Amino acid sequence: MLLKDFACTLIKWQKQHGRNDLPWQVPDPYARWISEVMLQQTQVATVKSYYRSFLSRFPTVKALAEASEDEVMALWAGLGYYSRARNLHRAAKEIVQKYQGVFPQSRHEWESLPGIGRSTAAAIVAFSFGAKETILDGNVKRLLARLFAIEQPLESAAAQKKLWALAESLLPDEQLDRYIQGLMDLGATVCARSPSCLLCPFCDACKARQLGLESKLPLPKVRKERPQKEATVLLFWYEDEFFVVRRRQKGVWQGLFSLPEFGLLSDEEQVTEIGKRWGLAVQNCRPMETVVHDFSHYRLLIYPLAVKVKAKCAEDSDRLWVSYPNMQTVGLPAPIAGIVRAFFQS
Ligand code: ADE
Repeated sequence: MLLKDFACTLIKWQKQHGRNDLPWQVPDPYARWISEVMLQQTQVATVKSYYRSFLSRFPTVKALAEASEDEVMALWAGLGYYSRARNLHRAAKEIVQKYQGVFPQSRHEWESLPGIGRSTAAAIVAFSFGAKETILDGNVKRLLARLFAIEQPLESAAAQKKLWALAESLLPDEQLDRYIQGLMDLGATVCARSPSCLLCPFCDACKARQLGLESKLPLPKVRKERPQKEATVLLFWYEDEFFVVRRRQKGVWQGLFSLPEFGLLSDEEQVTEIGKRWGLAVQNCRPMETVVHDFSHYRLLIYPLAVKVKAKCAEDSDRLWVSYPNMQTVGLPAPIAGIVRAFFQS
């Protein structure tokens, strides 16, 4: 296959078989930036509704820059990888201050903003301005590893260099937006982890397929054992309300409201003592089902305890009582929201 045929074939394929009705498919850098960041670690189907709510609340970069971090985090709640939301907010402020709210047009300028790597920056400028830049996300790496039968582990520096060079050499001069969307679509829907080669326009040209290696490549990542941590969360409840605190500490879920979290608690005495700190008198306490939550860098075993209290305590900006039917109004991390729902629905 000639390299120039690759782009031409991909563009034709995208027109016919690719995704052309996604809500962010508009030549607007704001829409493209928000959607690309949301799509970094999250599936298209999940992103759609978050994207719509986010754009309707923050329709411009200025609106986002002027919002409070609390509000940004609340709209992100449930999407995970919360540093993405904090970085979006910081980048919005920078775009307003440094660029007077006018979006930069070069990949390098985008890359200098918080939370934007080379591939995301390339997608934004290719989609918004037709810039000749290539993406290289996980799907595209898999596609290229198969097309060119790359047998090195893809994380190695040598493979990364080769992949970027290959991806750049394949770029066409025109229709960059459709070409980049084609790379994403082919990687996500046809050259998926389990490939559907008969639907692929490069079926005959694919080196991995010629060698019978299409299911073996790319070589699987050498997985490090995920460390495991444990925590107890306390669901203090009174009638149809529950108690949440803002997580001030650095690390995951920083800035979000959540159930109060502790290390392992061995007896009810400790729970009673903790309750007293907030002026809560504990009536009774019962364990709920353990929840396992995988972060990218560790596994968390969450032991929830439902703690009935005799009365609510005072609130402030870091401590709130929330009624179960209104739980959407505070942004809770997804596994914590699951615990609250399990309790009130049982
Ligand atoms: N994944 C990352 N960016 C995407 C996009 N623009 N469309 C579909 N899937 C994506």
